[in-house]
Amino acid sequence: MDSLRPELIEFHGVFMSHYFTDNWENVQNFKARPDDILIATYPKAGTTWVSYILDLLYFGQTNPERQSSIPIYDRVPFLEIFVPSIDAGKDLADRLQTSPRLIKTHFPVQFVPKSFWEQNCRIVYVARNAKDNMVSYFHFDRMNNVQPEPGDWSNYFHRFMEGKTVFGSWYDHVSGWWEKKQSYSNLHYMFYEDLIEDTGREIDKLCNFLGMSPSAEEVQRVAGSVQFDNMKKNSMANYSTLPVMDFKISPFMRKGTGLSPTLFKGTDMVNIFQSSFCQSPFWSKTARNSLD
Ligand code: A3P
Repeated sequence: MDSLRPELIEFHGVFMSHYFTDNWENVQNFKARPDDILIATYPKAGTTWVSYILDLLYFGQTNPERQSSIPIYDRVPFLEIFVPSIDAGKDLADRLQTSPRLIKTHFPVQFVPKSFWEQNCRIVYVARNAKDNMVSYFHFDRMNNVQPEPGDWSNYFHRFMEGKTVFGSWYDHVSGWWEKKQSYSNLHYMFYEDLIEDTGREIDKLCNFLGMSPSAEEVQRVAGSVQFDNMKKNSMANYSTLPVMDFKISPFMRKGTGLSPTLFKGTDMVNIFQSSFCQSPFWSKTARNSLD
C-alpha cells in the first residue's frame, strides 16, 4: 500500500496530490445540473457528517435501503478523486440516478467546475476550527495510504501553517469560500462547532436553505441517526469498507469533538478563524503540544 503514497505537488498555486489533479480536464468539464447540491469543505471539516445529514433528509424516508447497503462515498461521490482501484469520483457522479445528486468536493473555491456556478447550484460549505481540523488531518494522513506521508507532528504542524497539505492552505480555503458567499447567494456556510453544539438547529437552518420543511420529529430522527457514536459504528458511514485506509493506525471517525463555539461567537467568523490559527494563546500553547 505504501507505494500509493503520492508527493505533494504545487498545482495552479495550490498544494495538491496527483490523485486530485490527474482527472483535471474531465472534472473541469463536469456538467452540473441545476438541482445538484455540492458539499464543499477543507478535508476533515465534517464533510461526511453533513453528507450523511443531506442524504437522510433527501432519501432517508423514500429509500431507506440506500442507508444500509451503499457506503456514503458512493452515495455522495467525491468529484475530483482519481485513485487506482477506486471508481473515479466524476464517473460516479455522472452515473448517479438520484435527484438531487449530492456531490462532495475539497476544492478551493477557484477550482470548482464552472458549470456549478452557471447552473446556480446550491452549495453547502462546512468549516472547522484550524486546530481540530489540523489534528484530524494529521491522523487521517497517517492512516490513508493515498495521502502523502505526514511525517512527525512537529514537521506536519509547520507544513500545515505554510499551507503545504493536500488542497492547500486551510486559511485560504475557509476565507476563499467565505468571500464567495458574499456574492453567491446559493451558498450556505456552516460550522462544525455549531453542529456539535446543536445538530437539530443546524439541520433546521440547512432545510431552510434547501427549501425543505421536514417535521420536528423527522429533524430529530435525522439528528439522532448522525450522532457521532451512531455514525462511528455504521459501516456505511465510517469508511471501514474503503481499502486504502488502515484502521489499525487510526479510525476515520476518531474523536468527533470541537472547540466550544462560544469562542467564535459575536464577530466575523473568518477573522476569528485567523486568530485561532496563529494568534490565540489557545493555539500557541495547546495546539503545538496536543494531538487530541
Ligand atoms: P476527528 O478526526 O476529529 O474525529 P471529514 O468527513 O471531512 O473527513 O471529517 C472527519 C472528521 O469529522 C473526523 O474528526 C470525524 O470524527 C468527524 N465527524 C464525522 N462524523 C461526525 C459526527 N457525526 N459528529 C461529530 N464529528 C464527526
